[in-house]
Amino acid sequence: MALVTKAVKGTKDILPKEVHKNQYIEATALDIAEKFGYKELRTPVFEHTELFQRGVGDTTDVVQKEMYTFDDKGSRSITLRPEGTAGAVRSYLENGLCNETLPQKICYVTSCYRYEKPQAGRLREFHQFGVECFGTQSPLADAEIIALAKSIFDTLGINDLSLEINSIGCPACRAEYHKALKDYFSGKKNELCHTCNDRLDRNPMRILDCKSPVCSEIAAKAPVVTNYLCDECREHFEKVKSFLKAQDIEYTVNPKIVRGLDYYTKTVFEFVSNSIGAQGTVCGGGRYDGLVEELGGPHTPSLGFAMGLERLMLLMDAQNCTFPEPAVPDLFITALGEKATLKALEIAKDMRSEGFGTVMDLNQRSIRAQMKYADKLSAKFNIVIGDNEVETGTAKLKNMQSGEETEISLQTFVNGFYTISLSQQLADLEINGEEIDFTSLFSTGNEE
Ligand code: HAM
Repeated sequence: MALVTKAVKGTKDILPKEVHKNQYIEATALDIAEKFGYKELRTPVFEHTELFQRGVGDTTDVVQKEMYTFDDKGSRSITLRPEGTAGAVRSYLENGLCNETLPQKICYVTSCYRYEKPQAGRLREFHQFGVECFGTQSPLADAEIIALAKSIFDTLGINDLSLEINSIGCPACRAEYHKALKDYFSGKKNELCHTCNDRLDRNPMRILDCKSPVCSEIAAKAPVVTNYLCDECREHFEKVKSFLKAQDIEYTVNPKIVRGLDYYTKTVFEFVSNSIGAQGTVCGGGRYDGLVEELGGPHTPSLGFAMGLERLMLLMDAQNCTFPEPAVPDLFITALGEKATLKALEIAKDMRSEGFGTVMDLNQRSIRAQMKYADKLSAKFNIVIGDNEVETGTAKLKNMQSGEETEISLQTFVNGFYTISLSQQLADLEINGEEIDFTSLFSTGNEE
């Protein structure tokens, strides 16, 4: 196939017929985050390369192998964001959010770019929903963001996810751990890949998440970080666990979780599924108490997580989770002839300004073709306007599902439509045996 009609490897389109599913997931996540006090932040898709080198860490797979980096026409080294945290910290500092009351809680829906080998659940352009909470060292915050992620999964109806947590300590206990790793890996230097040989000197922990099969096999038997935690980190981890228990959140401690990005300290966690293949980590996050400082800000203990929206969608499909139906037009206007078309334009304008989805045939086809089109669009109501209807000022409004027709005035169309559609909705509710709470229809929201 010609390149111009083929999407770049590792990228995919979200088509109009499925976009409502993405919109639903994103709106649900943003809504729940808001209930936990998070506000949305939007940052640019590209940043200075140095931000990720310093933020994510220049010995990580992401920075060493996966970034989309290029020089712009002004010879600046630019990188498409491989993740959302570094850009959020940059924005937090640049825009003075650090001077406002802490903690500052932000959330985002964002596209990310990593040059990885594409497979199910692994793309080169993917999307994340994430949260970042700046300025708290309390273990309550660790437990709260985990509860927030879980609340999103629960609301979406996902139940096949296990929560795995770990603590990877602070720089003080990390020094001891690095020494133990160096001792262990030094004996196996010749078997490690070229990149891991370099990591052995600079950051031995990164060998633990190398994707090469030989390195992963060696890493599987490496010392675990939990045995090297200092008292403060151990105590913090115990508190996080007790706060999770208090919220009835089940977890397993997995001492092998170290996460693939350099900024993490203390608590790290992942939500993992077995139903979507090898790329089963749907959500990952943790604390990054040193990152804000690393990027030039004041000491600001912080934490966050991000969930991969493509993996979330795979999981929801695998579990047959329900999605709301996509929106359909409330009204289709079939107009025949010039006068009728002018009337249709007027009605469509009034209907839309009252919030009703209204569509007409831009190609002005025959009545049969227009009716077929209305059917394809699954419009709820249809009205046919010809010369005769314009003259008499009335037409028949047809409920496309029941076939029921009601005479309606074209002069006061919107009011008539509102009454007819509301009474039919109420009739439908009665047919379905649901009890109607009329007070809710007329409530002002001011009552005690
Ligand atoms: P991450 O673990 O690199 O963490 O990515 C988070 C999630 O993004 C993963 O769990 C996965 O669902 C999804 N993901 C990652 N790479 C891909 C890919 N190539 N294709 C599809 N989905 C992918 C972070 O990005 C951190 N910034 C999370 C965080 C926020 N930590 C603290 N705050």
